[in-house]
Amino acid sequence: MGLSTAYSPAGAGSGLVPAPLGAGAGAARRRSAQVRRPRLATVRCSVDAAKQVQDGVATVVAAEAPASRKECFGVFCNIYDLKAEDKTKSWKKLVNIAVSGAAGMISNHLLFKLASGEVFGQDQPIALKLLGSERSFQALEGVAMELEDSLYPLLREVSIGIDPYEVFQDVDWALLIGAKPRGPGMERAALLDINGQIFADQGKALNAVASRNVKVLVVGNPCNTKYGHFALICLKNAPNIPAKNFHALTRLDENRAKCQLALKAGVFYDKVSNVTIWGNHSTTQVPDFLNAKIDGRPVKEVIEDSKWLEEEFTMTVQKRGGALIQKWGRSSAASTAVSIVDAIKSLVTPTPEGDWFSTGVYTTGNPYGIAEDIVFSMPCRSKGDGDYELATDVSMDDFLWERIKKSEAELLAEKKCVAHLTGEGDAFCDLPEDTMLPGEK
Ligand code: LMR
Repeated sequence: MGLSTAYSPAGAGSGLVPAPLGAGAGAARRRSAQVRRPRLATVRCSVDAAKQVQDGVATVVAAEAPASRKECFGVFCNIYDLKAEDKTKSWKKLVNIAVSGAAGMISNHLLFKLASGEVFGQDQPIALKLLGSERSFQALEGVAMELEDSLYPLLREVSIGIDPYEVFQDVDWALLIGAKPRGPGMERAALLDINGQIFADQGKALNAVASRNVKVLVVGNPCNTKYGHFALICLKNAPNIPAKNFHALTRLDENRAKCQLALKAGVFYDKVSNVTIWGNHSTTQVPDFLNAKIDGRPVKEVIEDSKWLEEEFTMTVQKRGGALIQKWGRSSAASTAVSIVDAIKSLVTPTPEGDWFSTGVYTTGNPYGIAEDIVFSMPCRSKGDGDYELATDVSMDDFLWERIKKSEAELLAEKKCVAHLTGEGDAFCDLPEDTMLPGEK
């Protein structure tokens, strides 16, 4: 893959030089050249002419576009003159974001939020690298065209493709949304295998070509995938990227739990804090009401109905996805996109004092006694630098611990089903019956 067109976002006083996509790109590309699989598809560019900037004015150069400009989309092939804008001094360095399943429903909400500056901030230019499939390629072009037409000043590059080795080149964030849904009569083990293979391949591609500090958020849409394993598979196939950088989305469940607690307590949901989802995004997930707070007070003091907390609240959150599918006829999309935004913002902005957020992360070294070497949702705090620490000021009681162990058992059983994808030998799949997604009956 040649260089992609980039608008130089290099920030204050950086001049007008169009930059190759990402610093250090050459080295990463050399690495990728050694491990690259056959090219699946080239990313198309909808204009032929490249533009050149002179004295702060963009002028079209009608000559043939250089090879380095082939992998952009439409208007994003034009050079953006940062000096022409007085905001230039505060522009930050371009952030490269890959999104898989980019032609799907969740992405259709998410991409426009990313491009608007709502997620990374109004001074943060971004490049979007959209990964789709051969089948969805035309739709991918449609998405890119809508992004063009939206005239987002922070959106400096859009490229589309179906080869993760190309799309993930130098990315700082990889939002892995796409996965295969369960087909009629398909066994769960078969589905785990098909999707596991996708995330194994994507892990390998990230390992080969992404930024060494890429942050990976595994979502896996449409329904009937579970995030925990796929994040684990992905990280096991990317040994050169810190395992800590991989996340499985459980923020949607946290948001759902906050909403239910607010409803019951008769308060607005901004009063609800310290909500942890423990475990997996499945019906064994544990929405923690022991540590959660309403207006700074323990939930159990505000909501004295323990039966409601233990039964109705817990089940409502665990099965909210299914309730939505019944209404919509499909999985949640907008609220999932919002929760992805929340999950990213939780890592790029400091956590409010005393609070925490839930995210599925690698368990090795966790202070709670949860089995090592799985991906499990736990309470985290961030300084806003993209990194996080596990919260240690959490209480545990028998009810909470028992349920955590059940979610852990589910993950451990499913881990055996994907052993062939995590480098742990032969797979052995004997799943407990209650291994269900929020959307499954
Ligand atoms: C959700 O929680 O909304 C989805 O995971 C449900 C599903 O099974 O797709």
